Amino acid sequence: MNKTIATKPFDDQKPGTSGLRKKVPEFQQPHYVENFVQSIFDALEGFQGKTLVLGGDGRYYNREVVQTVLAMAAANGFGRVIVGQGGILSTPAASNVIRKYKAFGGIILSASHNPGGPHGDFGIKYNIENGGPAPEKITNAIYQRSKSISRYLIADIPAVDIDKVGKVDVAGMTVEVIDSVADYAELMESLFDFDAIRELFKSGFRMRFDAMHAVTGPYAKEILENRLGAPDHTARNYHPLPDFGGHHPDPNLVHAKHLYDAMMAPDAPDFGAASDGDGDRNLIIGRGIFITPSDSLAMLAANAHLAPGYKAGLKGIARSMPTSGAADHVAAKLGIGMYETPTGWKFFGNLLDAGMATICGEESAGTGSNHVREKDGLWAVLLWLNILAVRRESVKDIAREHWATYGRNYYTRHDYEEVEADRANKMVDELRAKLPSLAGTTVNGMKIEKADDFSYHDPVDGSQSDHQGIRILFEGGSRIVLRLSGTGTSGATVRLYVERYEPDPSKHDLDTQATLADLIVAADDIAGIHAHTGRSKPSVIT
Ligand code: G6P
Ligand code: ZN
Repeated sequence: MNKTIATKPFDDQKPGTSGLRKKVPEFQQPHYVENFVQSIFDALEGFQGKTLVLGGDGRYYNREVVQTVLAMAAANGFGRVIVGQGGILSTPAASNVIRKYKAFGGIILSASHNPGGPHGDFGIKYNIENGGPAPEKITNAIYQRSKSISRYLIADIPAVDIDKVGKVDVAGMTVEVIDSVADYAELMESLFDFDAIRELFKSGFRMRFDAMHAVTGPYAKEILENRLGAPDHTARNYHPLPDFGGHHPDPNLVHAKHLYDAMMAPDAPDFGAASDGDGDRNLIIGRGIFITPSDSLAMLAANAHLAPGYKAGLKGIARSMPTSGAADHVAAKLGIGMYETPTGWKFFGNLLDAGMATICGEESAGTGSNHVREKDGLWAVLLWLNILAVRRESVKDIAREHWATYGRNYYTRHDYEEVEADRANKMVDELRAKLPSLAGTTVNGMKIEKADDFSYHDPVDGSQSDHQGIRILFEGGSRIVLRLSGTGTSGATVRLYVERYEPDPSKHDLDTQATLADLIVAADDIAGIHAHTGRSKPSVIT
């Protein structure tokens, strides 16, 4: 039986860069989840009798919210919900399932790389029928609805068994529990040369993949070890845990430092990789060399034709504005389009749908292609493996050769986390006000060529997104970018991105922080980061 429950709006259900993310206790407030889910459904049209995909990264509260969404989907008139077994679907796997089964859309339960557990973060995100994150038009409509909602619909049903693969009827709706990994593994087999990668492992190649106790564990175990024949223990920390073992499932040099250290050791494996909470990010480290996400995008794009799925070449490359310009050099050489978008994977959707871009990437450790409409951690790992299997060179040699060909974009990001929001906003406001007077001035010995607040005009749908990050471009191609994160859950995170282009191969082995030191000082001179935030140094450097 369906029930209509009266409710009152919450005023803080505005989706951010990637859905609604809050601390678990906030989601546990009575009606909080229901209000948001109903706001999603109310913002959509035409889903009666259609299919919804549902899954999450397995974090704390995942199972409970799966049940709530099932009961609400039934009451709202969906015909079928496809759920990953145990409520598990990585973000890219969910994107694939939406596309493959021609679903109306999907709900993904995740706060990505944010910590989980009873006091950690939780999140709810809606993806549209192309498998990608809902565009702003929809997220705005969801938010508007959340501010006026007065009732939600929910079926009065016992909990559905989501651990057994198969179909059940629930209040007139079909719930189809699917193997979380199978469709995704099949897609990967269609893109990459699994035989070549199998041969690579047979030849003694060694890899370590750290699933960080998050969702990619079962995917990595199945694909790398079972299907590609990598030795046992290639996948580490592969049991998804509701609190990620108490760790922060963010594959960067801080939270995956153990992997970094192992890869720098004398007995390091050939290749190291990790993924985040929901499986869409990746970290790539070769023996003795960390590959920045911006460089990884460029190197993958330059070599993608070596994998069967991309042998026809790329139509174009897209990157978010703060991502380094390394991929631009590749696009120029290939003679293909290069697109610069705001931060957020959703901005790639139109370019991918329109066939303008094939590969996309972000400095925030996201890389992906037109195979789904989300970034995809294991995809990046498998494309690297395919390239390594064909080229039979070390990651370090591939990187060196890449830089010799295209030049090297030295790049770093400094994050100031949990800064008081007022202070961070004040800093950005003051900087914005200064922008018109910056061009032509000299800071720390470097001349500013241009300073602006990035605006994006979507070439496909003509939409305009303003205030997407402040850029200060120096003569000679160096650049600093400053913006506030759209994914944090407490206070504000200030991100400073610093980049310098070095064409000279004799200068490709320098220390990144030292090479960028004068720009880092300039950034503080211009924006007053330390004074405004009250911090003398960043909390995270990647
Ligand atoms: C998520 C989004 C990405 C984005 C990243 C960083 O992972 O999916 O597209 O680049 O967050 O966003 P932020 O606003 O925190 O810099
Ligand atoms: Zn993620």
